[in-house]
Amino acid sequence: KMDAYVTKLMKKMTLEEKIGQLNLVTPGGATLTGAVVSEGVDAKIRNGAVGGIFGIYGPADVRKAQEIAVKNSRLHIPLLFGLDVIHGHKTIVPIPLGLSCSWDTTLIERTARMAATEATADGLQWAFSPMVDISRDPRWGRISEGSGEDPFLGSKIAKAMVRGYQGTDLTNDHTLMACVKHFALYGAAEAGRDYNTVDMSRIKMYQYYLPPYKAAIDAGVGSIMSSFNEIDGVPATANQWLLTDLLRDQWGFDGLVVTDYTGINEMIAHGLGDLQEVSARALAAGVDMDMVGEGFLTTLQQSLKEGKITEQQIDAACRKVLEMKYKLGLFDDPYRYFDTKRPGREILTAEHRALAREAAAHSMVLLKNEDQLLPLKKSGTVALIGPLASDQKNMLGTWNIAGDWKEAVSIEQGIKDVAGDVTIRYAKGANITSDTMLLKRLAAFRDLVDVDPRSAEEMRREAVATARQADVVVAVLGEAQEMSGEAASRSEIGIPEVQRELLRELVATGKPVVLVVMSGRPLTLTWEDEHVPAIVEAWFGGTEVGHAVADVLFGDYNPSGKLTATFPRNVGQIPIYYNHKNTGRPFGGDPLTKFQSRYLDVSNEPLYPFGYGLSYTTFEYGDVKLSNTNPSGTTSVTATVTVRNTGKYAGEETVQLYLSDPVASVTRAVKELIGFQKVQLQPGQSKEVTFTLTPEHLKFYNSDLAYVWEPGAFGIHIGGNSRDVKSATLNWSK
Ligand code: IFM
Repeated sequence: KMDAYVTKLMKKMTLEEKIGQLNLVTPGGATLTGAVVSEGVDAKIRNGAVGGIFGIYGPADVRKAQEIAVKNSRLHIPLLFGLDVIHGHKTIVPIPLGLSCSWDTTLIERTARMAATEATADGLQWAFSPMVDISRDPRWGRISEGSGEDPFLGSKIAKAMVRGYQGTDLTNDHTLMACVKHFALYGAAEAGRDYNTVDMSRIKMYQYYLPPYKAAIDAGVGSIMSSFNEIDGVPATANQWLLTDLLRDQWGFDGLVVTDYTGINEMIAHGLGDLQEVSARALAAGVDMDMVGEGFLTTLQQSLKEGKITEQQIDAACRKVLEMKYKLGLFDDPYRYFDTKRPGREILTAEHRALAREAAAHSMVLLKNEDQLLPLKKSGTVALIGPLASDQKNMLGTWNIAGDWKEAVSIEQGIKDVAGDVTIRYAKGANITSDTMLLKRLAAFRDLVDVDPRSAEEMRREAVATARQADVVVAVLGEAQEMSGEAASRSEIGIPEVQRELLRELVATGKPVVLVVMSGRPLTLTWEDEHVPAIVEAWFGGTEVGHAVADVLFGDYNPSGKLTATFPRNVGQIPIYYNHKNTGRPFGGDPLTKFQSRYLDVSNEPLYPFGYGLSYTTFEYGDVKLSNTNPSGTTSVTATVTVRNTGKYAGEETVQLYLSDPVASVTRAVKELIGFQKVQLQPGQSKEVTFTLTPEHLKFYNSDLAYVWEPGAFGIHIGGNSRDVKSATLNWSK
């Protein structure tokens, strides 16, 4: 039916109108997400030169644009409306890196469903999410937008998000078409510098970087966005191997391929030729829609005349755009998403806020808790210190296009609401940074940082005096929200020095200090780990962050988050990730032995490993029991451990299963995550946790890029993080 409809429509279309469908524009304004803004949008819509718009929302505004297309363009083809709905639409949930630390795919799916409800109520049908780029480099600001370093967990989350956004029926006016991005390998930008070159072996790509994109496709994602970086010397946006051979032919993707913002034009700077050349190459490689740059709009006709592209290529791309509109039900009713009563009923509801609070609490990771300093008592005096302690503007996190910071609950407000009997004494203590150029840059984009004009010494003095009058100090320190995200790479990833100086002085008072870290990336917290008794990584928790932080600090929620990206000791260790190779000269532990793979000045071990996160209770793992240590062929084997809550609080533990494959035809990682389960345990309670293994779990990509398993010995490792595991071995024959 769809085929026939689209074919009939395309027969009526001129070449110009077909090319017009490939044009995705943005009017910019408050939603600007790139340097260029589309001009003369209304006239272009009337002329059939626009296929979709992103960057506007609200049913009334979106309707106006749709009416121009439906009433005034020759063929009345409706427009597609998209937006960067990344971690919530208006009810903002934690940044994706934070959310991934919940390891809770059901919760993550619910947050995507909530975002779909709110975004569709606001006139949208298309979200540029999920971002599934694997990253091993916390210098890269966009690590905040993904699910960390692991392809197995990343794939599960990718699927959950696609399900959450799209549901089972795209024509439903509460579902959004998802767009998996950035295809591909964007998270491997050299030196963590955004937009930088990527160069990677195929085997590494297939094993570690491609699985989450593929998982989203298997979950039925409607669209995919090509990345800015090059792959094998050809930018992704003109990469025929990537966009056609792999994506369409091998993976069978039949949805829409859209570029990133001016991704086609940027291939001029990459060195591929002029706008006509790069546009022709992008179309021929498999791009359907050109985001903002208008290379397609302005050059494809000429390229067709010159025989650089074919009419079939234009038709194929146009068909994809029209098919999306059909699947979203826009041809049946182009106004179906524009019910002006919906926003009032469905956005920022109490139910959505409750979900945001739950998600934020579940994302937080307890990094340290000496002498059970946490949870705090709901009495006495708390000195609440730090530039982020009473701030509302930096709570939502990067990429909250439609979020309103005024809706965010500050930490101070959250503590007041959760622990009303506590006396709070607040002092800002420091500005986010004393780097004036950085402050200028932060002000230039969204202007979210309020700078206190007092000197750093004066602010610290006030904070120290405040701390001295309190029973406990809660220091809320870290990054401003726009210090991570796009174009926000950092070469030093510590808490900015002026805040660290404040922290040193707070610790020197001798008062117990709880450090709440806000950041969009793993930070180097080596000094903090040595000197501060309790540390909570709160990420950027979204609209309800203040309540969620207070829930955790005062024990209404026992933290259960587990890191999904390794925390390095210093920047020199980067890239550092748990699923690394052994090398031919692994470090044996003796610092005096030379000629081994190690540093002279820092350990090989991270500060906090992948999968790590504490609880107010403690969990003890029994030995790993295997149902069979000599399986053969496709039989399955169970691996069981008993996990016991040995502490005083009820708690939730993410039990992680890792595989090692010490002998294979290609080198394997020392450990790879192949499963996880969450268990709730009351104090003293034990549960058996069982994983079922089949040869599927043993598979990897070999030198021919075949996905195979090879018989032999395997290590099965189960634990509460990637470092502290109980192990058993088995021998699996063919
Ligand atoms: O979706 C984003 C992408 O992640 C980065 N560049 C801009 C796009 C549209 O806003």
